[in-house]
Amino acid sequence: MSRKSLISIGDFTKEEILHVLETAKEFEQNRVQNFLEGKVIASLFFEPSTRTRLSFETAINRLGAKVIGFSDASNTSQSKGETLKDTIKMVSNYVDMIVMRHPLEGSSRYASEEASVPVVNAGDGANQHPSQTLLDLYSILQTQGTLEGLTINMVGDLKYGRTTHSLLQAMSHFHPKFIFTAPEELKMPKEYKEFLDSKGIEYIETTSLDDYLNECDILYMTRVQQERFTDPMEYERVKDVYRLEASMLNNVRDNMKILHPLPRVTEIDQDVDDTPYAYYFKQAENGLYVRMAIISYLLGYR
Ligand code: CP
Repeated sequence: MSRKSLISIGDFTKEEILHVLETAKEFEQNRVQNFLEGKVIASLFFEPSTRTRLSFETAINRLGAKVIGFSDASNTSQSKGETLKDTIKMVSNYVDMIVMRHPLEGSSRYASEEASVPVVNAGDGANQHPSQTLLDLYSILQTQGTLEGLTINMVGDLKYGRTTHSLLQAMSHFHPKFIFTAPEELKMPKEYKEFLDSKGIEYIETTSLDDYLNECDILYMTRVQQERFTDPMEYERVKDVYRLEASMLNNVRDNMKILHPLPRVTEIDQDVDDTPYAYYFKQAENGLYVRMAIISYLLGYR
C-alpha cells in the first residue's frame, strides 16, 4: 500500500499538483465512482469544520469507501489523557488512510510519522491546509484558463491564515505576482516573504483594500480568525478591518474572481454574492472533486 501523505503542499511536485487537478476534472464530470469499495478511511477532526470534513466524507462515500471518525474530540479518549501518538497508532491499524485536522502546528507531520497509512492534513493550526490549496488552484484554473502569470491579491489575516501560506507556496510554480493586503498586526510572516524572495517572485504590501482592487486576477479574501488570537483586544482592533461591497467592484478586471476559503464573517458583504465576480460557493463545491482526486492519488488508484 502507498505510504505517501499530504501534509504540506510542498510534499507534491508541480507535476503531482497538475495531475490531481486533471483527475479532479474527471470527477467533476462523473461523481459516481466505486473503485474504493472495501476501503475504510478515518476522518479525525480535533477542531471545528464544515466544508473540509463534509467534503472529505462525501468524497470517501462517492468513491465507494467507508468512513469512521469524529468531529468532536471531547467524545474520544483524548479527554481521558490519551496522546495523539497513541490515537494515531491505533487508528492506523483500523483504516487505509487518515484525514486529520488539529489545532497544533506540526501535528499532522507528527501523525504521518507515527501512522502506518497515508495521512492528509486537513489543517494544522496556522500552518498549512494543502487540500484547500489544491481546490483553490482548481478554482483559479477553472476561472482563468491558466495558472501562469496571474496577479493574486490576498486580503485579511495573512499572519494566521494557513490557506494563504499554502496557496503562496503552490502558486510559486506558476510565475505569479502577489499583493498582500493586511493590517500591520496581520501581515504576511517574514518566512513566507523570504521564500518568495528566494524564488524571485514579486510582491507588494499594502494596508488598503482600495489600492490594488482593480489590478488583480484573483482577490483571495480571508476571515480574521478569532480562534488564533491570544490577545482578545488585538482581535477587537482588527476584526472588521476590511469589508468588500458590490459597489467597490465597478472598475475591477473583467476576468477577476473573488475566492474565499470560507467561512466568511463580515469581510464580504452578501451583496457581492450576486455579482459575476463571486466564486466562493463554487470554490467550496470544487472541494469535493479535488478531495476525491487527492484520496485516489494517495491510495494509488489514479
Ligand atoms: N475552508 C475551510 O477549511 O472550511 P471549514 O473550516 O468549514 O472546513
